[in-house]
Amino acid sequence: MVEVNIKINGIKYKRNINSMMRLIDFIRDEIKLKGTKEGCGEGECGACTVILDGKIVNSCLLLAATLDGCEIITIEGISNNRIHPIQEAFMEVGAVQCGYCTPGMILSAKAILDKNIDATEEEIRESISGNLCRCTGYDKIVQGIILAQSKLKNN
Ligand code: FES
Ligand code: FES
Repeated sequence: MVEVNIKINGIKYKRNINSMMRLIDFIRDEIKLKGTKEGCGEGECGACTVILDGKIVNSCLLLAATLDGCEIITIEGISNNRIHPIQEAFMEVGAVQCGYCTPGMILSAKAILDKNIDATEEEIRESISGNLCRCTGYDKIVQGIILAQSKLKNN
C-alpha cells in the first residue's frame, strides 16, 4: 500500500492504495465519482478521459500512486452548481445519444477551448480524435463544441 494525495475537482484526497491501482479506479471506486467511464481499458477509446494538471489523459492508463500531488478534473468538476456551457451546447444540438463517450468528449473539448477559445473546426476535430463515439457520427459533437465556443466567448 502507498499513500497518495491527489486533488480532484478542487478537493484534496489522501488515501492508502494498492500501488497498482489505476487512476480510473481511484476516481470511480475510492472517490465514488462515477462520471468517468471505462470503455476499452487500453487507451484506445477516450471514455476514461480526465484532465491532469491541465492536460487530457486516459485515466485507464495511469497508476494513481504515480500522481501524488497532482490535480485532476473530472466531468463532475467542470461546472460550479450550473450546467457548463459545453454541456448546454451538447444538449442544444443533440450531441448526446447513449452518452457513454460524452464525459470524455466534453473534457477534451474543455481542454482545447481553455487553451484556445478560437480553435478552428480542424483543431477541434483533432482535439477529440482520441475520443471514440459509436453513436453520433461526430458531426453533432463538433457542432456542439463550436456552439460552446460562442457561448464561452459571450460569457
Ligand atoms: Fe481508457 Fe478506453 S477506457 S481509453
Ligand atoms: Fe454513444 Fe457517443 S453518444 S458513444
